[in-house]
Amino acid sequence: MDAAIKLRGVVKAFGSITAVDGLDLEVPQGICLGLLGPNGAGKSTTMRLLTGQAIADSGELRVLEYELPREAKKARAEMGVVPQLDNLDVDVTVEDNLAVYARLYRVKDVRAAVDEALDLARLRDRRREAVDKLSGGMRRRLLLARGLVHNPRLVLLDEPTVGLDPQIRTEMWTLIGGLRSRGATILMSTHYIEEAERLADEVAVMHHGKIISRGRPADLIAEHAGRETAEVYGPPDRLAEVRAEAEAEGLPVRPAGPAIAIVGSEASTNGVIPEDAIRRAATLEDVFVLLTGEEAA
Ligand SMILES: Nc1ncnc2c1ncn2[C@@H]1O[C@H](COP(=O)(O)OP(=O)(O)OP(=O)(O)O)[C@@H](O)[C@H]1O
Ligand SMILES: [Mg+2]
Repeated sequence: MDAAIKLRGVVKAFGSITAVDGLDLEVPQGICLGLLGPNGAGKSTTMRLLTGQAIADSGELRVLEYELPREAKKARAEMGVVPQLDNLDVDVTVEDNLAVYARLYRVKDVRAAVDEALDLARLRDRRREAVDKLSGGMRRRLLLARGLVHNPRLVLLDEPTVGLDPQIRTEMWTLIGGLRSRGATILMSTHYIEEAERLADEVAVMHHGKIISRGRPADLIAEHAGRETAEVYGPPDRLAEVRAEAEAEGLPVRPAGPAIAIVGSEASTNGVIPEDAIRRAATLEDVFVLLTGEEAA
């Protein structure tokens, strides 16, 4: 079975900024791939290349069985896109927002597609209401359902829960999880580690326009962080001292808010881990910060 997305050596520059810098990325059908990266890593640009909203300077891009940019229109017809920013039409009802998209995508049975999308978003009883009467969480659910109204094989989610409060975020996770179990391929960009950990079968860490590491979360943790991380709290000069000792022993150390985190602390044998350190299981966040040098969201 062909991969749903296949990018080879893709480059996209904006003036002197190379947003995507020789990107290789393959997403097999039926998985949810989390594209994890700090601000400016090139995640949204990658999404925009996939939808044909931006054209690559060089490289090969295949989406489903189509070659981009030549067949972008066909690819787009089988793709669902859920943008980061809410661009719902506030002048029409909930169901009309869905119906407009269903017609745009030439869905045969618009009525049935709209009903199904309403069920997915759990908005059946609000169908005739104006969008601006909905709560923030309902609007997000509608935005997601709108992207799925034509039952796409591939779904692109760009930061699906950025800026949402925790309860709405959890609701979105439930919906995205459901989508995955329907067999769609999902590419989801995020900088929320927990989101990637919960939803993604595989994670690709993007930095400066390239994938710098890729794998199942548990494998990435084992490969880059080991088993255990020790967090040490205290005044800055003490932390600097502990850090220097740990690094001298070859253990990577990263900032963790007010603390430092000594990664792979299970490997330490000569007492550089202070007694009062809090030992915990290594996480994907440890991996992310070690690889990108940026503190995670
Ligand atoms: N249309 C554009 N014109 C000029 N520069 C752009 C444009 N789009 C993106 N860039 C630049 O390309 C780089 C990558 O941006 P991109 O939006 O792809 O990052 P991102 O990984 O999505 O970041 P974030 O997590 O902040 O959403 C950034 O330096 C950005 O300023
Ligand atoms: Mg972005």
